[in-house]
Amino acid sequence: MPVRLSVPKENASGERRVALDPTVATRFGKMGLSVQIEKDAGAAARFPDAAYPDAQVLDTTDVYAQADIMVRVAPPTPAEIEQLPEGATLIGFFHAHRSPEVVAALQKRRILSFAMELVPRISRAQSMDALSSQAAVAGYKAALMGADLSCRFFPMLTTAAGTIRPSKVIVIGAGVAGLQAIATARRLGAMVEAYDVRSATKEQVESLGAKFLDLGVKAEGEGGYARELTGDEKKQQQEALAGFIAKADVLITTAAIPGRPSPKLIPADMVRGMKSGAVIVDLAAEGGGNCELTEPGKTIEHGDVIIHGPLNVPSQVALHASEMYAKNLLNFLTPMIQDGEFKPDWDDEVVAKSCLTRDGEIVHAPTREAIQGDAS
Ligand code: NAI
Repeated sequence: MPVRLSVPKENASGERRVALDPTVATRFGKMGLSVQIEKDAGAAARFPDAAYPDAQVLDTTDVYAQADIMVRVAPPTPAEIEQLPEGATLIGFFHAHRSPEVVAALQKRRILSFAMELVPRISRAQSMDALSSQAAVAGYKAALMGADLSCRFFPMLTTAAGTIRPSKVIVIGAGVAGLQAIATARRLGAMVEAYDVRSATKEQVESLGAKFLDLGVKAEGEGGYARELTGDEKKQQQEALAGFIAKADVLITTAAIPGRPSPKLIPADMVRGMKSGAVIVDLAAEGGGNCELTEPGKTIEHGDVIIHGPLNVPSQVALHASEMYAKNLLNFLTPMIQDGEFKPDWDDEVVAKSCLTRDGEIVHAPTREAIQGDAS
């Protein structure tokens, strides 16, 4: 019997994405898997059931009960995990350290789980990197949100009614999302300045036609990520930043430190120093926000400044975000399928390092430590 690959309809509030788009579903079918989608699984991403000619459409109970492998986007609930057959494989985002009850359910059902956020960020795995693909979507949309909420044009406009100066957009955090926000704001004609604690980003920022703000603080951490700044460094950073931010029309913040709350880079004082009608799009809202005043999930006004703290931004570009995520899954799963059979190679570091639970054990050491206080 072929391996059954199940795709549920996402139940998380506001989630519009789906784990497999029709093209990737067909690719899995050609690899000998039997693809089965829950009724309306792709509807919110604008993929109706009929767009999946090679997939079987099942009701909720069956799409879970008949899964050998389930792929999904948002973390599952314990109740969803309970519906899977014991020993099934589950692949998606988990953010497990935040939800011990989900990990407990995975252990209880002896689910083999792979967390897409744990896929190592090595060159070979770039095509599987769902954190990057979804961050790129969020960065693009953040620039559009900024343009939309602003009372000013982004481009310079020369019209019979006069010449309009281009907006100044500042992007803080030039990782995957930040670089895409820079590129999008540039395409819309804004003057863009950007800042990141990792000095390696200077060249990337400049290659997109933006100016790199040198605040005199560098904080390269492990694995190409930023480390947390010291108290003195934070003070120096904020003092230098305040002068630039006072001139911004739109400020897009994307600074994150993996596994930690987002650093508070924009205190209330700095917001009060901003121009009338300025906009802050805080892409770090998910981790509490880079701005002290951000209310995650809300758009507020503080004085004359609009502060937008969107959550799950990739879901707002659901069709393309789903296509990119599905490609990440295809590239992740393909090496594990041999002659139509599911055979993960445990000597492959991508497979080994992205595994969360296996045979009732928490395999990922930091998650085990966070949940059981045991790193061994
Ligand atoms: P992220 O979402 O964890 O952070 C976003 C950005 O915020 C980062 O560039 C970080 O340096 C910056 N940041 C953190 N604290 C800051 C502060 N106090 N002030 C200003 N900026 C601050 O990062 P993301 O985008 O997920 O990845 C960061 C980098 O990791 C990428 O740009 C890339 O260099 C590397 N990477 C490598 C990959 C690979 O080789 N396969 C794949 C993806 C990322």
